[in-house]
Amino acid sequence: MVSRLKIGLCTVLLFLALSARQTLGFGTCRQDPTAQSHFCGLPYSLSNFQGYFACNTTVQVGRPDSKDQLLALIKSFPRVKGVGVGHSWSRDFFCAGGNADSIDIVLTELTSTRRINALPRWSRLGNLYDSTFPIHVDEDAQTVTVQGGVQTRVLLDFLATHITTKGPLGWTLPSFSWYIDQTVAGAVATGTHGSTMKYGTLSGQVLEIEVAVANGTLVTVTPAANPHLFAALQVSVGRLGIITQVKLPIKAQKAVKRSVDTMTMDAFVQEVLRVEDSYKIALQSGDEGAISQALEPVEAVQAFAFPVSGDLWKVSYRLLATTSLDGTSELSGVVDTEKYYQSITTDGTTSGPPKMPGAFDQKKPLPLGGSIFIDLFNSTEWDLLGKALLVPLVAPGIYSARKSYLTQSDLSSAFMSDLDPYDQYEVSVTMDKAGTCLARANELWKSGAAEGFRVPPLIRFVSGETPYLSNTNGGPRMFVNLEDHLSHTLKKPNLEFERIVRYFVDECDARLHWGKAGWPYLEPCFDGASHYANWCDFGCAVEELDPDGKFRTQSNAWSWRATQNGADVPLSQCCSPTGFSSQCTCAPRTDRTGCPAPGTVLHILAD
Ligand SMILES: *[C@@H]1O[C@H](CO)[C@@H](O)[C@H](O)[C@H]1NC(C)=O
Ligand SMILES: *[C@@H]1O[C@H](CO)[C@@H](O)[C@H](O)[C@H]1NC(C)=O
Ligand SMILES: *[C@@H]1O[C@H](CO)[C@@H](O)[C@H](O)[C@H]1NC(C)=O
Repeated sequence: MVSRLKIGLCTVLLFLALSARQTLGFGTCRQDPTAQSHFCGLPYSLSNFQGYFACNTTVQVGRPDSKDQLLALIKSFPRVKGVGVGHSWSRDFFCAGGNADSIDIVLTELTSTRRINALPRWSRLGNLYDSTFPIHVDEDAQTVTVQGGVQTRVLLDFLATHITTKGPLGWTLPSFSWYIDQTVAGAVATGTHGSTMKYGTLSGQVLEIEVAVANGTLVTVTPAANPHLFAALQVSVGRLGIITQVKLPIKAQKAVKRSVDTMTMDAFVQEVLRVEDSYKIALQSGDEGAISQALEPVEAVQAFAFPVSGDLWKVSYRLLATTSLDGTSELSGVVDTEKYYQSITTDGTTSGPPKMPGAFDQKKPLPLGGSIFIDLFNSTEWDLLGKALLVPLVAPGIYSARKSYLTQSDLSSAFMSDLDPYDQYEVSVTMDKAGTCLARANELWKSGAAEGFRVPPLIRFVSGETPYLSNTNGGPRMFVNLEDHLSHTLKKPNLEFERIVRYFVDECDARLHWGKAGWPYLEPCFDGASHYANWCDFGCAVEELDPDGKFRTQSNAWSWRATQNGADVPLSQCCSPTGFSSQCTCAPRTDRTGCPAPGTVLHILAD
């Protein structure tokens, strides 16, 4: 068995190397082909990074090289959507529309963003700063201002290697996500998060947002100047415009000790149940100190669950006073930003001349074929393989924050992107039922649902925050990342996997993560007014910034219904510059059709 696994692992690595070589010639992606995670359709075809959830091929791709060109495109097209590098699992949110009146616009092609291409070695970075450089660090204010099209990995690696007197170990974001290959604008727009009971999601951390709005102007919004619009823009799913720049807080990197506890899922469930209990008691007391104390045991915890074996790896972190790190160089293991942008020569004219400056026809996306590995191992062996691949990643020790807090490695991102078509779901449930829900999910896993899993679910915890559409608006939540690695390859629904997703959504009132999978099937069940307390406040921001629905996409989720004294009134009648009027009621929608009854088997089979 062990030797079979070893052979398997070698095969995986061999194919990985081969595929990387093979794809070198494609040059279709705004990521350096020699970066491991190079496989994505954008900016040439409109699909996700594996060629799925594609838009109608008549939809145009916008590749503006300047903000002026971006604004002109927004004015010219009736339907517009800002997109990143294709990490979306929902066509309806992702596609501006379904015909040639529609354009999906990327921000990776701005000359100023691409200028990061020309970076010399790290040591000489400092000389390059000028006003057009896409990342600007202000050490005194402890902020970074970054253009929307810069990828999170690039930003984090840039900060980590920005070694200065005030930041002798470089700089970092207070909390960041596991997956870091999306653009910063996309990550902020969708409430992307790590595991933190202190700092919230990237959307919760953001300090200032510059957005290109429907009337073709740039608007900069801060919480001080306009708390209402800011709360709407923090998680906007692209519905309010295209985020061109954000300002985020940064911290000088410290030494962070990473520890790993291996335990059973049963034991972890008991821990979360205890947190749930003490959180509920603290909530009743209303004492903020007691509440944060109750949540302390899950601070920054990332737990990898192995449903097949019933094992769980709990990774946790502690900030240290020391500045001495394990390992010799901070740069080893950190990816060189230069690599990402350098050798890309495709010039955007591959799909014919532009209709207008910056607007291009799509190249036809090629959906990734099935994974040759899925059938190589059974679920027990995948469980072991998952552990083998994770071991080097989670190794305990003292590292800089960038390295200590786990992120998906470039290599594993590449493996999954190129060879392993999957749909990534994520559900979040409130902390007052986190333990109870996890306990029941654990029972479902034991009763056969584990067979639907090939990659360990990842459990994290995030503090409550105020952005209207944040998953944690209303209070802290437990997030469970769930991946279906079977249905694309086997061309049949993954019913055991669906059982788990439906359980969380139907019985734990879970919210789905914006932009991840599940929306295409469960959107008919979505009723913003009952899922989000500030739903109509968000609607009022839409009335203000996008009154004609340029950014409405094809999603049926964007629906608002206001009533006053029991009668329906136009939403705009209930909106003021500070949000939705308390004289009105944000009412449940009446136009919902096609919501499958709770527990109904959906037979999800993505295109
Ligand atoms: C794409 O849009 C065109 C024009 O609106 C339409 O004729 C065609 O059926 C659409 N194709 C798909 C696959 O929906
Ligand atoms: C997977 O295969 C191994 C033999 O390699 C076997 O021991 C194990 O029971 C199988 N597991 C399942 C779930 O079929
Ligand atoms: C465009 O919209 C923004 C935001 O609503 C507004 O502040 C600005 O005045 C508008 N500009 C024009 C030219 O209409």
